[in-house]
Amino acid sequence: MENADETVTLKFNKTGESYELPVIKSSIGPNVIDIRRLYAETGYFTYDPGFTSTASCSSAITYIDGNKGILSHRGYSIKELAEKSNYLEVCYLLLNGELPKNEEFNKFSINITKYSLLHEQLKYFFRGFRRDAHPMSIMVASVGALSAFYHDSLDVNDPKQRELAAHRLIAKMPTLAALAYKYSIGQPFIYPRNNLSYAENFLHMTFAVPSEKYEVSPTLAKAMDKILILHADHEQNASTSTVRLAGSSMANPFACIASGIASLWGPAHGGANEAVLNMLDEIGSVDNISKFIAKAKDKSDPFRLMGFGHRVYKNYDPRAAVLKKSCDEVLGELGIENDPQLKLAMELEKIALEDEYFVERKLFPNVDFYSGIILKAMGFPTSMFTVLFALSRTVGWISQWKEMIQEPTHKIGRPRQLYTGAKPRKYVPIDER
Ligand code: SDX
Repeated sequence: MENADETVTLKFNKTGESYELPVIKSSIGPNVIDIRRLYAETGYFTYDPGFTSTASCSSAITYIDGNKGILSHRGYSIKELAEKSNYLEVCYLLLNGELPKNEEFNKFSINITKYSLLHEQLKYFFRGFRRDAHPMSIMVASVGALSAFYHDSLDVNDPKQRELAAHRLIAKMPTLAALAYKYSIGQPFIYPRNNLSYAENFLHMTFAVPSEKYEVSPTLAKAMDKILILHADHEQNASTSTVRLAGSSMANPFACIASGIASLWGPAHGGANEAVLNMLDEIGSVDNISKFIAKAKDKSDPFRLMGFGHRVYKNYDPRAAVLKKSCDEVLGELGIENDPQLKLAMELEKIALEDEYFVERKLFPNVDFYSGIILKAMGFPTSMFTVLFALSRTVGWISQWKEMIQEPTHKIGRPRQLYTGAKPRKYVPIDER
């Protein structure tokens, strides 16, 4: 990875000491200042809570240009992939670095299809949950529990076991997600069908019942596949960084993905799609928009406009643009063109994007702003929205995990801190305090 033919000088003005730090060049986007020797040579740490200016790793998987609203996977733009590819092909691309040839794709999809069944004992594992458990709590638990069932794909030092674990996770997430939904509504589990595509299979397991035939709508299957593509990977976001840090301790891949699901659940991250719909319900009508915009701007009010803003995008999230277009297609197909929540969302977006507070801070709609509206129209309850995000993002997490584990120089992640606590002091017995 080294590509350091340039340096920067760090100079301590008080002592006049200076240090040369290497600059490592990217293939595109910001270069980095290599500070790995900084503490050893200067006794100083750098300080960057929230990692606003820190590259935690090198990666060849996903590139984001937040100012230009660019997102690409292995060099292919998200817009092109969403229009021309399919989710399983994007999975292959993220995992292997290249688009598959025909025979590679067929072998990969047959493999994923083969692993879509779950160990039968997992059905009894689900029985331990209350029916009103949030599906994300079931996903965190059941994905972590997969390590109790698939002992032949736990050795992170064995490339074959790493690949088997990756394929099992991609294959089983739709089955687990559908199970979590069926369990929450008291309906019987539906087994995967090997004759259906990945998205069709997931919709069939989610919405079919044993008592009658269920035909998956091609439009919904296409929309589902596009939603899965749009959420597949996104550089070093909070949940991906969680997976990398968990993986750096050599924890098994199922435990690492479970940690990513836990992090994604937060409303500041993947939980925002559920929070957007709840927010739109709370706003209720266009007349109330200005009241909620004022709340979002009021520093004393913890309320934030869910689905707006992003740490990296200071322009329109390209995924939101694709989803906004899909909204019209899916709602049109379902005959709900005049969906009140879509109208409210579009009015909210229009007002916010004309408001100085949002313009100044470059707060644009992100991927979560429109996704929930489509998912609700497709028949998913809001509690399932982040589950679908986790389903899609599993391939991104496992691809980033694989890239980290394969890195010959990878080491356990162990950040330091700025200590601001008490200075050394003597213990005082309780009756003398
Ligand atoms: C995802 O990282 C990824 O790539 C994530 C993701 C992925 O694919 O993995 O893209 C998925 O998580 C999308 C984001 C979903 N979250 C939300 O929609 C929740 C609402 N958004 C905010 O919580 C916020 O915008 C974050 C968490 C997304 C980003 O926060 P940052 O980068 O830490 O920005 P910040 O909190 O420092 O905000 C900067 C300013 C602040 O105001 P000032 O102190 O400068 O006056 O903008 C304000 C914030 O108060 N602000 C908002 C706001 N988001 C930021 N004000 C009102 N409403 C908002 N939504």
